[in-house]
Amino acid sequence: MNISLKGQVALVTGGTKGIGKAIASKLSNVGAQVVVTARHEPKDQTSEHHFITADLVQPEAAEIIAKEILEKYGRIDIIVNNAGANLSPGGGFSSLSDEHWHNDWQINFLSVVRINKALLPSMITQKHGVIINISTGAAKQPIWELTMSYSSAKAALNVYSKALANEVGSKEIRVNVVSPGVVKTPLMMEFIEDIAKSSNTSVDEAFKTVMNKVGVPLGRMAEPEEIANLVAFLVSSEAKYITGTNYSVDGGALPIV
Ligand SMILES: NC(=O)c1ccc[n+]([C@@H]2O[C@H](COP(=O)([O-])OP(=O)(O)OC[C@H]3O[C@@H](n4cnc5c(N)ncnc54)[C@H](OP(=O)(O)O)[C@@H]3O)[C@@H](O)[C@H]2O)c1
Repeated sequence: MNISLKGQVALVTGGTKGIGKAIASKLSNVGAQVVVTARHEPKDQTSEHHFITADLVQPEAAEIIAKEILEKYGRIDIIVNNAGANLSPGGGFSSLSDEHWHNDWQINFLSVVRINKALLPSMITQKHGVIINISTGAAKQPIWELTMSYSSAKAALNVYSKALANEVGSKEIRVNVVSPGVVKTPLMMEFIEDIAKSSNTSVDEAFKTVMNKVGVPLGRMAEPEEIANLVAFLVSSEAKYITGTNYSVDGGALPIV
């Protein structure tokens, strides 16, 4: 398959680590001009990507990012809303305060709504655009003791993405969701270390607990590049009839057909 994104401008939020970093690298390898955002600029930030510092939980961040992209490039073709995190403690409903719920919904749901709202008018004018919202298998397969508020926010992201795809399809804009299962990233490693600490076990034991809870037929975590490969296909013209869909990349973990 010959994917080329030459001449296209792509935004990847959270494009400095883990899945976002792999997506940014893949998209620029196939020709896109890539803008990445994060709260901290990494020391090894490649000059191939235009970097914007932004904390996406701040309501004004989306407008600032959109303004900078449109001033610099005059267009936006691809948005990959990747930044996200499970910011709450484990333990189920009684461990979760209003603040935990608020934090998870800000970064995993509202920040995406704001980025899309700020950039969609340009896509509509261009009559061209692709949006990928990165969700999680845990939105369909919540683990109550570990992911209750995070899973809820990502499930809302899935529903919002379907509604948005229905709204903007006639304007030549496609919207899809990619739902990873368990992926070897800094976020996943922190999550496992937190479980080890709170349950007073080793990191190896906590790793096994997560793998057993999720149940991955392929028997391993994904590499970030394995998520990036699907994103590159979905944003390309090879996928020009695909919209309103949610793709799992989870080694077979989702136990439904
Ligand atoms: N890893 C997995 O197993 C897994 C599974 C399913 C779904 N996902 C989803 O995949 C996405 C990426 O996860 P990952 O594991 O690659 O995460 P990661 O390794 O923690 O990387 C997250 C990226 O987002 C940025 N970020 C975090 N909070 C931010 C904020 N408030 N404002 C702006 N940028 C922020 C981080 O940079 P800074 O810290 O510098 O801001 C970093 O670039 C997330 O949406 C996650 O929910 C991951």
